[in-house]
Amino acid sequence: TKQLTSLYQHFEKDFKMGAAINQRTMYSSEEVIKKHFNSLTAENEMKFESVHPNENEYTFEISDKIVAFAEKHQKAMRGHTLIWHNQTSDWIFEQSGRLVDPETLLKRMKDHIDTVVGRYKGKIYSWDVVNEVIADEADKFYRDSKWFQVLGESFIEKAFEYTHLADPNATLLYNDYNESNPGKRDKIYQLIRQLKDKGVPVHGVGMQAHWNIYDPSLDNIRKAIEKYASLGIEVQITEMDVSMFAFDDKRTDLTEPTEEMKALQMERYLQFFEVFKEYKKHIGAVTFWGVADDYTWLNDFPVKGRKNWPFLFDENQQPKEVLKKIMSNR
Ligand code: G3I
Repeated sequence: TKQLTSLYQHFEKDFKMGAAINQRTMYSSEEVIKKHFNSLTAENEMKFESVHPNENEYTFEISDKIVAFAEKHQKAMRGHTLIWHNQTSDWIFEQSGRLVDPETLLKRMKDHIDTVVGRYKGKIYSWDVVNEVIADEADKFYRDSKWFQVLGESFIEKAFEYTHLADPNATLLYNDYNESNPGKRDKIYQLIRQLKDKGVPVHGVGMQAHWNIYDPSLDNIRKAIEKYASLGIEVQITEMDVSMFAFDDKRTDLTEPTEEMKALQMERYLQFFEVFKEYKKHIGAVTFWGVADDYTWLNDFPVKGRKNWPFLFDENQQPKEVLKKIMSNR
């Protein structure tokens, strides 16, 4: 049998294999990216505050660089993210020192989407259009945000409509975390169902998959994929990492993962990829929120400066043992 050595080639018939990159890791992890991934997402560089710091100022130098990098290496590119409560410049919500009126905010939103999506039209196959608008609290549906305060829930469908007009061929996703949690997945499902019922161009759901070696359960992940797929939409895993720490573990004393942690992470990764293969009909792409353990946003979250080791590649860009095992399962 043919020996496959690349992650994306191994899954080529099933789904795209992606990684988030940034200005630094596109160089420091270039070899791993080239060899193992065929889809890229900018970790921060296409976000509102990065590309649109002032009303009449768009700054595309860095996002252009990332898109050029993807083109040079013939990697598909995802867009992240258009409408979010975080990393969004304050000016968009302000007008003469007060909260902006709905009409003006909608106009600004359309300008942003037209300009950013238009610039990369045909170069980005999928956009995370709306990010994280569902509340985590059980007794609340939507998260409080400036978008919501000014426009109510209507900003959500508008964002999808404007994006679809700006690039009719892109796959448009609603993207969120804690997506496998029963209460939250029901709300995400309801949101997308309402949008679909109204004919809003939403084509898929992004399950961020910020998971860890204990949570969530495979059962909850399966139920989430099945529930979302029952809407007849594509599912993407958009920001996967498998933290070595449980959610409430705030320990800071480890300079490397214990053998037990490493074994658990290996087991979990094997199980996750089994589940992805099981549902490959519905899954368009699986994207990691980084490349190798030398850099991850988890080094600053939830404990600032605490090292984590969430990926398939170690701090020296070498594949972990689990990679071979993933690629020997068929
Ligand atoms: O760029 C500044 C730099 O100039 C400054 O010196 C430095 C000091 O802290 O901060 C730098 O900005 C940081 C930025 O990442 C770029 O590295 C911000 O502080 C930091 O908050 C920001 O974190 C990003 C986070 O989103 C912010 O919300 C992470 O890198 C990024 O991985 C993370 O990604 C999000 C997804 O977009 C949405 N889903 C959740 C996911 C994880 O939080």
